[in-house]
Amino acid sequence: MKLELREITKRFGALVANDRISLAVEPGEIHALLGENGAGKSTLMNVLYGLYASDSGEILLDGVPQRFTGPGDAMAAGIGMVHQHFMLVPCFTVAENVMLGHEATRFGGFLNLDAARDKVREIADRFGFDLDPDALVEDLPVGVQQRVEIIKALSRDAKVLVFDEPTAVLTPQETDELMGIMRQLRDSGAAIVFITHKLREVREVADRITVIRLGKVVGEASPTATNAELASLMVGRAVELIVHKNPPRLGEVGLAVSELTVIDHHGTHVVKNVSFEVRRGEILAIAGVQGNGQTELTEALLGLQKHVRGSIRLDGVEVSGQSVRHLLDAGVGFVPEDRNEDGLVGDFSVAENLMLDRAHGEPFVKAGSVQQRKLMEFARSKVAEFDVRTQGIDEHVKFLSGGNQQKVVIARELSRELRLLVAAQPTRGVDVGSVEFIHEQIVAARDAGVPVVVVSTELDEVSALADRIMVMYGGHIVGIVPGATSRSDLGLMMAGERMTEGAAA
Ligand SMILES: Nc1ncnc2c1ncn2[C@@H]1O[C@H](COP(=O)(O)OP(=O)(O)OP(=O)(O)O)[C@@H](O)[C@H]1O
Ligand SMILES: [Mg+2]
Repeated sequence: MKLELREITKRFGALVANDRISLAVEPGEIHALLGENGAGKSTLMNVLYGLYASDSGEILLDGVPQRFTGPGDAMAAGIGMVHQHFMLVPCFTVAENVMLGHEATRFGGFLNLDAARDKVREIADRFGFDLDPDALVEDLPVGVQQRVEIIKALSRDAKVLVFDEPTAVLTPQETDELMGIMRQLRDSGAAIVFITHKLREVREVADRITVIRLGKVVGEASPTATNAELASLMVGRAVELIVHKNPPRLGEVGLAVSELTVIDHHGTHVVKNVSFEVRRGEILAIAGVQGNGQTELTEALLGLQKHVRGSIRLDGVEVSGQSVRHLLDAGVGFVPEDRNEDGLVGDFSVAENLMLDRAHGEPFVKAGSVQQRKLMEFARSKVAEFDVRTQGIDEHVKFLSGGNQQKVVIARELSRELRLLVAAQPTRGVDVGSVEFIHEQIVAARDAGVPVVVVSTELDEVSALADRIMVMYGGHIVGIVPGATSRSDLGLMMAGERMTEGAAA
């Protein structure tokens, strides 16, 4: 089915998020939509999906104008969408979530849960997903939740499919699988819109590329364009895709983890007796396929895991067993893997979110009352420095685009005196220009003498930042190798293979 968007305009108050955007996607085509954070990509797709009413403009399917008053209409017309922000019910199972979508359409719904389970299994098999239909969504890591979103969208045989940053939370392997799925769907005649900030993916899978900036289409690009060309078209300036960093000036041991074991709420040992050190002025990057203990390890460093054995020392002082509040006060900066769950309060303003972990003391709170002027000044300067695109510091964070929400978390965590920085997926969902900036800031923290632990599923990010790389597999440390270790050696280690001494150096 052919999709045409004609002159779509969508305003939020004074902001024109989409300014007469036109886009045509042919059946059998993967059309990539590129643009910096806040450019208006998700807004345009939400208009298409009936979630937002446009102020003007038209949606046509096979040349026929459509009127969508809600997602139900869009689904019924054959449109499927994988959302940037998941629309799953956490306390429902996978199959129940998939069924829920069908009830909403009132068409071709499943009569019972068994049918929904079968459908989940069938699609999971077809695309090589490993997924238990009866698992509770809230128990699943974000990467697996993303698969549920994908299965939900695929379960309706949509003719037009929108993927809004589906790969942000996927591992490289899962991303390759998903790109395979997109190709299969394209070859069977679907019209596909694909949004991503990862230029490699665009060049690999897209047939055509449209770039938008500040709510307007600024041009088309060819999938044969270089990363640098695409990047500069997106952000309107040249972007350096490499991080400049001097050799580390190593100080004392800042973080010492010894024989650490973490047991999750099912009683499973998810981190198994790991020991490592990070010096002041050093970045240790933890690489590994998601779900091998990295998340739980970083959470343990902030006191977020309840059942922990072993020792965690900060500047020589034992801190395991301490509360999160105590650790934040002690100077642990933490960028959580899932910003919506752990990093932000959507109904709080940008300014309030920028002071979240300092809500109980100086400099923003004195004698129990918030120092409004101080907070406002601070918030304004951070918004400018980190290029957070928002209508104002009073705006609720939930109205910011995905990448801009991430920038709020990063700005907050990097804006205080740190004795340790733990950053999980620090550039998730962030555009190439802002990736450059965030990487510079992390390197600056390291150069100021902070020990830094970065967890990333992106090998490019690991290689760009790491002084040393620690690879985890099955809750163990497979090895700790130099930052310059090759991708292929890292790949082997991520599959659980130990490097022989010196081989990976
Ligand atoms: N419901 C809303 N209310 C107010 N403003 C909104 C709302 N949704 C989006 N915006 C604003 O519209 C602009 C475009 O946001 P959008 O989410 O479409 O960006 P995006 O291109 O998807 O960015 P990202 O790459 O970060 O996901 C942003 O400035 C955002 O703050
Ligand atoms: Mg978006």
